Amino acid sequence: MVRNFTKEPLSPGQARSFINLARSSPRAGNTEGIRYSLLENENTDSYWKITLDDNTKDSFPWPGLLNAPTLIIVWVNPSSYLERYAEDDKKSTGLGEEEKNWSTPYWWVDGGMATMSILIAAESDNLGSLFFGIFSHEDALKREYSIPEEYKSIGTIAIGHPAKHQRASKSTLRGRATLDELIF
Ligand SMILES: Cc1cc2nc3c(=O)[nH]c(=O)nc-3n(C[C@H](O)[C@H](O)[C@H](O)COP(=O)(O)O)c2cc1C
Repeated sequence: MVRNFTKEPLSPGQARSFINLARSSPRAGNTEGIRYSLLENENTDSYWKITLDDNTKDSFPWPGLLNAPTLIIVWVNPSSYLERYAEDDKKSTGLGEEEKNWSTPYWWVDGGMATMSILIAAESDNLGSLFFGIFSHEDALKREYSIPEEYKSIGTIAIGHPAKHQRASKSTLRGRATLDELIF
């Protein structure tokens, strides 16, 4: 993940091409339950205004993140999944009745896969990217960008050209397990 960007914009249409690739990500029942907010250049200002108040902004540990020329918020609609699984070919699963019937709520899985497609697409174009959480700002972002009530956020992807110096986050100091440790 990259947390320090230059202000250089993406090429016109580049961010849309990443979202276009994510259209091919796997999704349960081929449900059309994922949407995106695409914020580019000066349109990213409203995002930071909502998620970083003036006090937090001064002590924010990743000031270079605010340079990112592109932000994509990934949204999922659990109701679309319930509607899809209430259709004739899926009805017998019982998943169309209630969210709690889903042992794995696939809107989160599908939203994560779509997000990963975008991250990989950006890296493949020699850009840098960061996936980060929205936490307590979801409702305010929904109001700002007129997102329908039933949508829930997966998180936000920042994309841009990496600045020279990258400070690793504390989480990366934990390292990664070896391949053998991961396979049961
Ligand atoms: C669900 C999720 C939430 C994350 N939230 C944040 C975040 O809020 N801020 C941040 O800087 N990184 C966030 N990350 C990025 C992780 O910290 C990062 O992927 C991890 O430390 C490994 O670093 P690497 O991808 O650079 O190897 C998040 C990643 C995931 C999957």
